[in-house]
Amino acid sequence: MNILEIIAKKRDKKELTKEEIEYFVKGYTNGEVTDYQAAALVMAIYINGMNDEETTNITLSMANSGEMLDLSIFGKNVVDKHSTGGVGDKVSLILLPIIASFGIPVAKMSGRGLGFTGGTIDKLESIPGYNTNVEIEQFINNVKNVGISLIGQTLNLAPADKLLYALRDTISCTDNIPLIASSIMSKKIAAGANKIVLDVTCGSGAFMQNKEDAIKLSETMKEIGKLAGKETVCILTNMDEPLGVSVGNNLEVIEAIKALKGDMEEDVKAVVLELGSYMIKLAGFGENIEENKQKILENIQNGKAYNKFKELIKNQGGDISYLENVNKFEKAKFIIPVICDKDGYVEKINAREVGIISGNLGAGRVRKEDNIDQSVGIVLCKKVSNEVKIGDVLCYVHANSEKLASEAVAKLKDIYIISKEKVEEPKAIIDIVK
Ligand code: URA
Repeated sequence: MNILEIIAKKRDKKELTKEEIEYFVKGYTNGEVTDYQAAALVMAIYINGMNDEETTNITLSMANSGEMLDLSIFGKNVVDKHSTGGVGDKVSLILLPIIASFGIPVAKMSGRGLGFTGGTIDKLESIPGYNTNVEIEQFINNVKNVGISLIGQTLNLAPADKLLYALRDTISCTDNIPLIASSIMSKKIAAGANKIVLDVTCGSGAFMQNKEDAIKLSETMKEIGKLAGKETVCILTNMDEPLGVSVGNNLEVIEAIKALKGDMEEDVKAVVLELGSYMIKLAGFGENIEENKQKILENIQNGKAYNKFKELIKNQGGDISYLENVNKFEKAKFIIPVICDKDGYVEKINAREVGIISGNLGAGRVRKEDNIDQSVGIVLCKKVSNEVKIGDVLCYVHANSEKLASEAVAKLKDIYIISKEKVEEPKAIIDIVK
């Protein structure tokens, strides 16, 4: 067997065997398959697809490409969460401390930005000192000590996904069902939880642009979960406009801190409550979804969730004075308003475009090795369905270059679609696949 034959087979729309998939995953992980060969195969998969058997095989090969974490010391209902990605998606930062505040262990490996979407790890690194790069023993000890640890893909867990994820980001191969399903489920299988809640985002700012594809992705991941003995629930959430009000690393962390202190945007709250109540249920801490939502609201109000976030940040070396005083976060040099020039109602804010603009300001990567600018991004003052008048501020651009700022302002003016007619407020939760 050799990699050229495997690439040619997928290029010619043929099915790959389990052995061929394993050969590729192992070879890419140990460096025998080069980046350009992997890029060619991934592009062929992107264009010609994979059937369910191939998708399951690549998932299991990727999960087996490194160590498998054993979290059984935390009980038999260890629950994990993952999102298929979005724009302004700061849900993990808010939700996971809430879950840990109930005494439910949270051991979560998160990703960096991918394509036009942001990543929890890039966001967490906005907090000076926070270490996303810890050894397995330390990761487990963190969970033992404070009930929660959020880390990057630094452990030797699903290393094939780490490589493929970074590669896909730079060859425009992000929005593809077999590649997303295998990426997410390989990490979740290797990371040791036995119950999984997935936030499957849907709309312009998601990899799945419509409900039909989001359901297909959900069913694929649920099926892989079943084969791996992991109960999986998928919550389909709206990502047609950015979630919450901020897009960009520091800006999203600030929004998350405010949310944990009790000031949470309604769309973010709906997603946090839905995902959280299923996590509580799967963890065996409450059967009733509506009651679980109430419990979550209580733990925000009584400060337990925010205190848990503080414990998490402190335990991983982060400077908690930034949480107490969010004005300490580095600010961009230019903060420029985008002014509305029509009366009416906001009909659409294409989330993908907002993600791309934020990336162009410096919040995302073009090459794998690029550094990101933590301080740049966009803060939305008006969201879909809001009434607007001429002269209102639609959003603010946070930039470190005047030229990039004015380009972003011009683009955002076009992205905000204003209708004369009233617009209904979009529903944050689209469907649940369980
Ligand atoms: N999140 C992942 O971990 N992988 C993807 O491919 C997309 C979102």
